[in-house]
Amino acid sequence: MPVTWFALCLLITAEPIAESPADIFTRRIVPIAQSQRASSCTECHFGGVDLRQYVLADAAQTFAALRSAGLINVERPADSKLLTFIQRKPAQENPALAKVRAEEYAAFRSWIEAAVRDPAILAVAAPQQSVGPALPVEVVRHARHDRVLQSFIENIWVEVERCENCHSAAKNKAQVKKHGEQISWMQAGDPAATLATIIDHDLINVDDPDKSLLLLKPLAIVEHGGHIKFPVGGRTDKQYRRFLHDYAAIVKGRYQTPAELPPTPAEFTIATGQHLRIVDFPKALRGRLIRADVYAVDDAGNERLAATGDGRIGDKDQWQNLVFAVVRRDADADRAARTKRQLPAGSYRAKVYVDRDERVEKNRDAVLDERELLGRVDFSGAWPPGYSPPKILNAAALGKP
Ligand code: HEC
Ligand code: HEC
Repeated sequence: MPVTWFALCLLITAEPIAESPADIFTRRIVPIAQSQRASSCTECHFGGVDLRQYVLADAAQTFAALRSAGLINVERPADSKLLTFIQRKPAQENPALAKVRAEEYAAFRSWIEAAVRDPAILAVAAPQQSVGPALPVEVVRHARHDRVLQSFIENIWVEVERCENCHSAAKNKAQVKKHGEQISWMQAGDPAATLATIIDHDLINVDDPDKSLLLLKPLAIVEHGGHIKFPVGGRTDKQYRRFLHDYAAIVKGRYQTPAELPPTPAEFTIATGQHLRIVDFPKALRGRLIRADVYAVDDAGNERLAATGDGRIGDKDQWQNLVFAVVRRDADADRAARTKRQLPAGSYRAKVYVDRDERVEKNRDAVLDERELLGRVDFSGAWPPGYSPPKILNAAALGKP
């Protein structure tokens, strides 16, 4: 009796001794290629690449195509490049995708190891059909998580301070009690986890990015427990929309050629702690959108855009807001601004633009320009960070050039 039992166990647990590569392919690779489940690649690629793209109709064709693409190492099958792709993982693995990855790896490894020992498979010439992403490499790169995260940081995370008191799990105990756990879509100090939560909570509408809750709430276009955080058509609105539209185009696979990719802006903004206030606007401009650009002026009188701020003129005919340092992606001189997040003391010139005719109000893509220049004023001296005291300028002192 015990002997029979032992024999039965062997029968159940032992792998079939010499399963052919074609059988392994049918039993383990085809289901991966046909599965609706997201492949492990999606943990780092929002689109453009997928493990399915590496599987053709049959084992021999697939092997030949992988081999001719340099993805299989016939001498050392375990070192095949395809296996390296599958083994790639981020520092913090998503547990569900880690499981998928382990299965994919085991399946492809046993299939490749069996296939390189099969003379019939080795003899197959490279087929017409190739494996790998169909999209140009520029598009594949643009859709990588690290690139998307960089854009999220530059366009949205840059203003976390505006949301974190109510939305960061570290700070919003009272709000969670009142409104529920879903309100915690931010993780303090962790833009990657925040982006993942935003996606998970469906706060981005990939069919109609302008209808994303992530945008509608802070604009108070739908009722928002945190009220209006920034105006339609302002810099923040433009930055949020730049990210949301790009993200939606990526996950919807709308980019097919490099020419369709949005250009990388030469400049981006960084929140300083410094506030600018402009007082005594004419009453007629109450409620209008303004933008104040702050230029650094050197000894020779040359000006260079150093910072910007925007918002609506308030009930007291004044405007106050944080200013955002404008840094050039490739300029060494701007490195200090990035790390210090503060404009140094110096000579500055503010140029103030007002949406008098509601041009931006009517078309949120429009940008205030010379037509809307209200005037300019020079200033200098210490400008410490903090809400109070801000740097105060008077609208009445704005002169035309
Ligand atoms: C841990 C993150 C990560 C995972 C998971 C990952 N990749 Fe990548 N992949 C990258 C990075 C980063 C690059 C670009 C830099 C490089 O090639 O090292 C890249 C580049 C590529 C490229 C080349 C495109 C180029 O820029 O030349 C292909 C093709 C690719 N990956 C396919 C895959 C496939 C298929 C999977 C799943 C089996 C996968 N990747 C999983 C991070 C990842
Ligand atoms: C003073 C507190 C407060 C601030 C600051 C605040 N919010 Fe909110 N927000 C709330 C409250 C309360 C809710 C829940 C009620 C509701 O849905 O409006 C909420 C809900 C949301 C939701 C919906 C979450 C969900 O899953 O239902 C989004 C998205 C959102 N806020 C975005 C933002 C953004 C973006 C900012 C910063 C620019 C921001 N909020 C700043 C209080 C705030």
